[in-house]
This record gives sequence, structure tokens and C-alpha cells, in this order.
Amino acid sequence: MDRNLITLKSPSLILAGFGALAKMGEEAGNLEARKALLVTDKGIVDSGISAKVEKVLTDRNISVDIFDQVIPDPDIACCEKCIDQAKAGRYDLIVGVGGGSSMDIASVTSTLCTNPGTVHDYFGVNLLKKQGIPAFLVATTAGTGAEVTPNAILTDTAVRLKKGIVSPYILPRAAVVDPELTLSMPPRVTSFTGMDALTHAIESYTSMNATPLTDMYAREAIRLIGGSLRTAVARGDRRDTRYDMSIGSLYAGISLANAGVGAVHALAYPLGGQFNVPHGIANGILLPHVMEFNVPGDVVKFAEVARLLGEQVEHLSPVEAAYRSVEAVKNLLRDIDMPKTLTELNIPRSAIPEMAAASINVTRLMANNPRRMTAKDSEKVFENAF
Ligand SMILES: [Fe+2]
Repeated sequence: MDRNLITLKSPSLILAGFGALAKMGEEAGNLEARKALLVTDKGIVDSGISAKVEKVLTDRNISVDIFDQVIPDPDIACCEKCIDQAKAGRYDLIVGVGGGSSMDIASVTSTLCTNPGTVHDYFGVNLLKKQGIPAFLVATTAGTGAEVTPNAILTDTAVRLKKGIVSPYILPRAAVVDPELTLSMPPRVTSFTGMDALTHAIESYTSMNATPLTDMYAREAIRLIGGSLRTAVARGDRRDTRYDMSIGSLYAGISLANAGVGAVHALAYPLGGQFNVPHGIANGILLPHVMEFNVPGDVVKFAEVARLLGEQVEHLSPVEAAYRSVEAVKNLLRDIDMPKTLTELNIPRSAIPEMAAASINVTRLMANNPRRMTAKDSEKVFENAF
């Protein structure tokens, strides 16, 4: 099999590490922005993080208004409210601050200020025609990777479906990943956003669309997250650990944006859509079971995942080493106090056939999976997760 062609989609600027937020102020100054809309949620306002971002901008004589109505798994109505405010205010900079939800709403708002019509016109791939007004995305978790991915997800409540706008114009002018902003993240949020990031790294590393370039990011992401997630949950105030988590999550996001994710994310969709299970928790529960199914699809890479997660594999056969990656993830879940079964979440077993059917319909992601998965296979994986 030929290796996949290397392509790299990424924001034109990435600022990552302690001090990244201050540097963002400089960039906003370079853009000669005068009026910014900060898009976030109430939790980020209460935590004081949005005030920190606001100060960086006002110090550059940029006036700031705040839209703080972003909700988890935002729906179209939430996004339209933000777009209305942005259009009325004639801003020259949009700054999304938060997890995936706030960053996605900020990206869509930026593009709908310059493209005609409504969000409904742009669900799908490459439908946006124009660059939006400049957007900066400031990640406050480590994380969703939304600051570096060219897609934004909204819930269409009318049909109870998540819909995506996929376009290079969804990428921000600058992605800002400052670990300082994650220091006060509670352990529960650290654990499930961290598992989302680890899932991005492992799924994109073993994706059919992986390239030597995405492998480079994914491997380092697995090593960094595997080496720091336990400590980040146990001692969230450790700056070295938060740094590793932030950079690991960023690299996982770059790998995901270019290689895609697979069956874990496909199976997590119905758990989120039908039972409102938070994305990172659904991924965490499913990850080891999907990996166990996927091992025969790429023994070499799963053996490498085990090694990157710190397992001693030198004395093992390649297949034994590959299955050790599954054990490594299970041990990690135990140490960060994550739910490990769907039983713990009170999901009824009777939902399995419908969830399996829904997961197989996510063909965009299933196409990336290293082993072909049928509806029967998906049912089996769900059963193992109970
Ligand atoms: Fe994810």
C-alpha cells in the first residue's frame, strides 16, 4: 500500500505555551482591530478567564463586547443569537474562549458575518465561499482540538442531529493554547477532556488517512498525554503537567484535523445524541473496546501506542505488545476516576441495536477506521462496554 499524500491544514498562526495569551494581544494589535466580540459561556466568565482575555485586548485599545450565551452541545438557535449580535455590532475581530462549543460558535459567527444566508446554507463540506472576519480561538481545556480543526458542529434540535460545517474558513486566524488558562480546570473536566484528546491522538494515528506527518504529531501527543494526564487530574496546579497536556492536546488536534478519527467517535455519536453522555466520557468508555477490536487492523501501530503509553513491550511479540495498548488505556481510565462502563451511566442494553445502526451510518468516520466494522461488530463492541 502506498503511503498517503501529505497535506497539512492548520491555522495560519499557532501560539502555544505559557505566555501565548499575552502574545495574542500583540497579534490583535498587528491586525489593527478596534472592536472585538468575545464568544464564551457563563462558566468561563465566572472563572475569571474571560476577564483575562478581555484585558489583553483592552490593553491594546480594542473595545470588547461579550456574548456569554454559549451552551454545551450548542444548537442552531444559540449560534444564530451570536451571529445576530456580531452583525449588529460590526466587529473586526471575533475571539472564541472556551472548550469546543465556544470555539465552534465563534468560528461559525466569523464566517456568517461575511457569507450571505443562514447556517442552514452551509452544513456540509466546502460550502462557505468567503473568509470570515478574523477569529482568534483561545482554548481553555486540553482538549477538544477545536482551535485547529476546520469543522464546527451544531445540534439541529428539529431533527435531533449533530450537523457539521466543514471548510478551511472555519480555521481561525490564530489558535491560542496557553496552559495558564487550564490551571484551574476541575479534575473531572481535566479527565474527560484529556481522554477526548487521547482518543484523537490514537484514532488519528491508526486512521487509514494517517500520513507520516500526522504520525509525527500523533505519536508525540500520545506520549505527552499518556505521561501527564494522571498527574494533571491528581495535581491540577502543576504547571509542567498542564503544559504537557496542552501541547499534547494541540498536537492531537492537528493530527485529527488532517488524518481524521474513526469508530470510537462514530460510536460515541449516538451516546451523545440519544443519552446526552458528555463527548469525552463516551470516548473514554469506548476507546479500549474499539482498540481491542481494531488491533488486528494495525498490529504495528497499536504496539507502538503501547510503547508510547509507557508499557514495557520489548520482550513481547508484536501482537502481545499491540494488545498491551488496550490494557494501558484501561489502567489510565482507572487512575483518573472515569466511568468505565455504560452500565455506570444507566444506558439500557436494549438501546444497543439502534446505537450500533446509528454508528455505522457515520460513514465519514467509519471509512477511517483501521478495521472494517459491521453493525454486528459495533453491537459487540457496545456489549463489551457494558
Ligand atoms: Fe473528540
